[in-house]
Amino acid sequence: MGTSRMFRIFVVLGSAFMILLIIIYWDDVGASHLYLHTPVSPGPKIPHPPPQQRPHTSRTPSFLSDIDAFVNQFLEPGTGEPTDPVPVETSNQSEKAEERYIPRREWKIHVTPVAAELRERQEQRRRLLQEMCANDSVVFRGKNRSFDDIPNKELDHLIVDDRHGIIYCYVPKVACSNWKRIMIILSESLLHDGVPERDPLSIPRDLVHNSSMHFTFNKFWKRYGKFAKHLMKVKLKKYTKFLFVRDPFVRLISAYRNKFEMRNEDFYRRFAQVMLRRYANQPTPPASVDEAFAVGVHPTFSHFIQYLLDPQTEKEMPFNEHWRQVYRLCHPCQIDYDFVGHLETAEEDAEHLLRQLRVDNVVEFPTSNRNLTSSSWEADWFSTVPVEARRELYKLYEPDFRLFGYDRPDSILNE
Ligand SMILES: *[C@@H]1O[C@H](CO)[C@@H](O)[C@H](O)[C@H]1NC(C)=O
Ligand SMILES: *[C@@H]1O[C@H](CO)[C@@H](O)[C@H](O)[C@H]1NC(C)=O
Ligand SMILES: *[C@@H]1O[C@H](CO)[C@@H](O)[C@H](O)[C@H]1NC(C)=O
Ligand SMILES: *[C@@H]1O[C@H](CO)[C@@H](O)[C@H](O)[C@H]1NC(C)=O
Ligand SMILES: *[C@@H]1O[C@H](CO)[C@@H](O)[C@H](O)[C@H]1NC(C)=O
Repeated sequence: MGTSRMFRIFVVLGSAFMILLIIIYWDDVGASHLYLHTPVSPGPKIPHPPPQQRPHTSRTPSFLSDIDAFVNQFLEPGTGEPTDPVPVETSNQSEKAEERYIPRREWKIHVTPVAAELRERQEQRRRLLQEMCANDSVVFRGKNRSFDDIPNKELDHLIVDDRHGIIYCYVPKVACSNWKRIMIILSESLLHDGVPERDPLSIPRDLVHNSSMHFTFNKFWKRYGKFAKHLMKVKLKKYTKFLFVRDPFVRLISAYRNKFEMRNEDFYRRFAQVMLRRYANQPTPPASVDEAFAVGVHPTFSHFIQYLLDPQTEKEMPFNEHWRQVYRLCHPCQIDYDFVGHLETAEEDAEHLLRQLRVDNVVEFPTSNRNLTSSSWEADWFSTVPVEARRELYKLYEPDFRLFGYDRPDSILNE
């Protein structure tokens, strides 16, 4: 009886051991399947030039580093180098792949490298950003704080795509509709008869700007509670982060043209009426934007600048996102952006970026045929603004000029 009992114990232990082996083995070979069912899918890990070690990791309590390790497991199924072996596809397998949708399958392998001048341009922009963040002559509020000290509501411009491992900080008036469209397509949050939408321009405008379409950092709290900040930092470390900027003064002209030269009821009531009352001697401005347009009343560009310079404006509420400084929207000294696009070189930058993200065969950046606000009109626009006000305005936006390498507009400021 003793031996048969021993035998049974052996059989049970042996089976348990085999099951364990199978599980471990399955985890290894099945890694690419596993992440399909997890909320965080792997992003292509693009080699970050100098890995910026943030000090927070050393202070992380041990239970958090466990979570870190757990999350990393899903984030790093492969190295993601362009030399990764491409799975050999038979037509049968590719059908199955379509069906199950394995993101890595769609990565395009380029034979020719990105043009050296484009890479050099990015290097320069990123280096400049780091230098300016370290340079004490560039001063702005919140520059010295750590990422942990940034309030939740100020992280509402960071859109996260877990499927490809991308974080986009959107800056209104800098091609943000088109980049938001691309983020919607990449995240596959918009389905057409069960098939993800693939054409950026087919996404209607109101949907593009509906915040329910985008998973932004400030929504992490709802989903992850007290682990939110930690998870954000893990994603910031692993994902490719990008933003697009443009000349700050030209951005203001563009905002003015778009919000006050065109009929916009919302902006008319929230801002134009205030400007008319305060700076245009109109105690009772027209009640609606249609009435205002009918009698030809709207705030001038100079009124708009006056509004921006008025200390009262910021006291009432923070600048609207269309004219809020990029350093306040995107926290470039806390977030180590991998790619800094300029609207002035939008097409080249978009092509470079989509390639760097390795999604250039999934989406194309829509070419714009709209009449973009051009910097050559800057002098004309500012001709109605007193020189003193222009200099004040420069001070307000100086960090954006310096962080992103836009020259001080001397011809406008030294008159
Ligand atoms: C899939 O494979 C089977 C057998 O391997 C073959 O008979 C069939 O024609 C293949 N289907 C396609 C679409 O190639
Ligand atoms: C900081 O910026 C100023 C003004 O552009 C420049 O003169 C100075 O050399 C910079 N300092 C450092 C440490 O780079
Ligand atoms: C940031 O820190 C530097 C020194 O570390 C200090 O000189 C500077 O005044 C600080 N800036 C702000 C805005 O607090
Ligand atoms: C945004 O989309 C959600 C759901 O798709 C909808 O309920 C909501 O009304 C939309 N908001 C706006 C401002 O259109
Ligand atoms: C764009 O608009 C400006 C004035 O608003 C006009 O002078 C210019 O000719 C336009 N350019 C094009 C290409 O339509």
